[in-house]
Amino acid sequence: MEKEYTNGEITVLWKPEQCIHSGICLRGLPKVFNLKQRPWVNMEAADSEAIVNLVRECPSKALSIKGVKFKEKSNSEVEVTLIPGGPLIVKGGATVFDKKTKEVFEETVSFCRCKRSAKYPYCDGTHAQPKEN
Ligand code: SF4
Ligand code: FES
Repeated sequence: MEKEYTNGEITVLWKPEQCIHSGICLRGLPKVFNLKQRPWVNMEAADSEAIVNLVRECPSKALSIKGVKFKEKSNSEVEVTLIPGGPLIVKGGATVFDKKTKEVFEETVSFCRCKRSAKYPYCDGTHAQPKEN
């Protein structure tokens, strides 16, 4: 279920079921996004601009800003990031060809590296859960 956090100026929306646990928010603004605090998003710990810039980096779009649709970056370079113990994130757009299908991602796509994702080859956050024996 979608959660809302506001500072009166902007409202951050979070869809937990969409989060792939990349940790980008936790590392990027640790005072705002902190799993040890309740609620885990503290909207008073940074200014709105910093929060918006961070939310924009969320690779799964689990985080968004209410009423804001981000424009694509005009950067034509593709950026690939390996998240330790997690997915491979491709930013800048990608076309994924399967034997029969073709999927187009205009901005960001996260590929599963642990092979446990129910949405394989895409990451669904399962890597962050303990392995069953
Ligand atoms: S997917 Fe988004 S909300 Fe989830 S940990 Fe990564 S940056 Fe944070
Ligand atoms: S890397 Fe995220 S589910 Fe596999």
